[in-house]
Amino acid sequence: MKILVLNGPNINMLGIREPDIYGKQTYHNLLQLIQDTAKQESLEIEHYQSNHEGALVDKIQDAYGKFDGIVINPAAYTHTSIAILDALKAVSIPAVEIHISDVSKREAFRQVSYAGLACEKSIIGQGIDGYRQAILYLKEKYAKK
Ligand code: DQA
Repeated sequence: MKILVLNGPNINMLGIREPDIYGKQTYHNLLQLIQDTAKQESLEIEHYQSNHEGALVDKIQDAYGKFDGIVINPAAYTHTSIAILDALKAVSIPAVEIHISDVSKREAFRQVSYAGLACEKSIIGQGIDGYRQAILYLKEKYAKK
């Protein structure tokens, strides 16, 4: 099984950016967690991060026919990007949305998730462990196919 993990803008600043909101775990820790999960679960996982909306759209389009699942944290684009929503719908690969912080308890502008409309599940406020949970969810779903 092949899973694509996608991260949007500023996720590469984890550990540095607003640690009171996003925690002290670094971006390096996140990449390590993804790698460890891939190994433990015998999955092929590719990771991609970009600060650019179009690059994320390109990566989702590229995933068509190549990946069995997508874990996506579109970061700020969650709340603005119809292009990312449309790309996820276009490829119709089972997707899980993840947010490190509990967006439901934050500002009003974070209460809308466009990408979430194309995702089977949303995991929020679990810190970086949310990525592991999303990967396990997709693995279980794939096994039931
Ligand atoms: C985030 C939440 C978004 O509102 C924010 O813009 C981010 C990160 C999260 O993981 O909690 O950059 O997606």
